[in-house]
Amino acid sequence: MPETGQGTTRDGGKKSGEAEFGHCVFDACLYEKVTIEGLLLHDIHSYAEPERARVQHVALDLEVDFNQRIIHGTVILRIKTAGPHINELRLDSRDQSIQSARISADGEHFEATPYKFDPPDPILGSRLSVHIQPDTQFVRLVYSTSPAASALQWLEPAQTAGGKHPFLYTQSQAIHARSWIPLQDSPGIRLTYEARVRVPEGLSAVMSASRQVEGSVSRFEMPQPIPAYLIALAVGDIAFHSLGPRTGVWAEPSVLDAAAWEFLDVEKMLEATEELYGPYRWDRYDLIVLPPSFPFGGMENPRMTFATPTILSGDRSLVSLVAHELAHSWSGNLVTNATWSDFWLNEGFTVYIERRILEKLYGSARAEMEAVIGFEELKQELSAQTPPEQILHIDLAGRDPDDGCTRIPYEKGALLLRQIERLFGRQRFDEYLRKYFDHFAFTSLTTAEAFEFLEQNLLRQSPELAAMIPFEQWIFEPGLPEAVLPHSPLLNAAEEAAVEWMNGASINTTETWSTHEWLAFLRKLPEQLTPDQMQRLDTSFHLTAVRNSEILAQWLLMVARNGYRPAFARLENFLLSVGRRKYIQPLYEALTPADAKRIYARARAGYHPITQGSVDKIPNIASAV
Ligand code: BES
Ligand code: ZN
Repeated sequence: MPETGQGTTRDGGKKSGEAEFGHCVFDACLYEKVTIEGLLLHDIHSYAEPERARVQHVALDLEVDFNQRIIHGTVILRIKTAGPHINELRLDSRDQSIQSARISADGEHFEATPYKFDPPDPILGSRLSVHIQPDTQFVRLVYSTSPAASALQWLEPAQTAGGKHPFLYTQSQAIHARSWIPLQDSPGIRLTYEARVRVPEGLSAVMSASRQVEGSVSRFEMPQPIPAYLIALAVGDIAFHSLGPRTGVWAEPSVLDAAAWEFLDVEKMLEATEELYGPYRWDRYDLIVLPPSFPFGGMENPRMTFATPTILSGDRSLVSLVAHELAHSWSGNLVTNATWSDFWLNEGFTVYIERRILEKLYGSARAEMEAVIGFEELKQELSAQTPPEQILHIDLAGRDPDDGCTRIPYEKGALLLRQIERLFGRQRFDEYLRKYFDHFAFTSLTTAEAFEFLEQNLLRQSPELAAMIPFEQWIFEPGLPEAVLPHSPLLNAAEEAAVEWMNGASINTTETWSTHEWLAFLRKLPEQLTPDQMQRLDTSFHLTAVRNSEILAQWLLMVARNGYRPAFARLENFLLSVGRRKYIQPLYEALTPADAKRIYARARAGYHPITQGSVDKIPNIASAV
């Protein structure tokens, strides 16, 4: 078997500008693949060498220690090796200490074995090599996490809704699973898992798996093979509310009713997605509403979406996030990006599907509004990012894969799929996608493989249509090829209202406005407004008191940009209580350095390390003055 060194790029340095249209472009990008059961050889963000020894099943025994902010764990990895000559299992690990390493041929009799950590890389963590014997099938590691583990956020009781109990949740995507479990942390490597979790009295644990409680121990099982970034755990004072036969929601008791009300349609969403793309293969679909420091809107952990409480708007207008995370049960969790450069296969497909779900449930006017807002955000992102960042198949060599998480893979990816749909017709494209999910179910694939399948199963049947889409440009070049753009008369009207309002007219159509129309209206207003205009906006529309977090975050951005003091208390309160990065990063960017630093000094400790990392880098905050 050929060996490929870590850190080499798979396209041999080919620049996207030199690419020619046709197969050769994609062939050039094909990974060199050496397989045991179709496994990828090469992921630059993992030290695993799955072509030699690969983890197939992870059995966890975890004790959650809130006092020390440590998870004490025992993990048994069931492995498969390429042959008796393989004498090492390579794992990913970050900030962990190992107390013992043992190996076994039968899963019962374990003997001690040497292991070694390489010096840590700032992005990848440490390579952990465990010595194995020709007959080794199980590797058992006793380990503990560090309080600084990048996947774990430990919350004080004061950071929860109830205020009485601590809370812990994990966020493993993209490469943080390795900070709480020593394993092969590559999206191209799938594993099943089971876990026993012990938590302090009065708290409950949930995972991205089926759940069974026996006294103080919760048992979990994920029988479908998933990539490591989908392993997830949350522990807190949480309760469950059923939403439908297969769906339900977890939240702190004081939040549960609001969550159940907001998510009324989840079962219907699940059914709608099945009608479009085939059976839901994960048994149950539940959500957990986390405390407000959760750095993301949502995370598609299988069977258990993790969500920010900021989507509890009280008007059900932000459920596109649920549609999005649910859609990942097909695009992302069932069919997974093989490497983080293929991230757009997860997110672009998911945004496309998210809008199809919204259309089915709420009609095309609603879905088009979402698409237009997404497109506006894409245009903004394209103008803010350098050309290499604008490429769908992004080069992440030497970079943290979290850096690739811009609007580009989401919205440019979705626009490409929409373009294919428009050209080939919805029926054909729907059939195609269903086939794609069936064919690749429970596998991970590269952009090149996805394109090859598209070519074989759709493009080839109508070359004249295929020729109308410059795929190579879409996937490997910066900028945006010509596309049929989304269009929303409702949003156009809201934007016209903004122009009229600037001209002094009063607007009386707002009674019926949706969240999206409010966003379009506010975003159409100039960035610089006079104190008088800010005040007029606030008194006419009561924006400082608004509950909907999307509208509030947009208004607070205007507050920060324009130094509108009457709303500063609200702004500070928001920054001190909410840790959703998408909201607070732009707010710190818009504040003056003095205000940004003053507020951040108080708020930082409450943020997730991911949010802290992003805010720390903002010039306003990083500057000496
Ligand atoms: N999987 C992502 C979140 C993610 C991406 C976490 C990359 C870590 C690294 C999730 O599905 C997502 O896209 N969430 C969005 C919301 C969505 C409605 C666009 C978010 O959190 O903003
Ligand atoms: Zn997503």
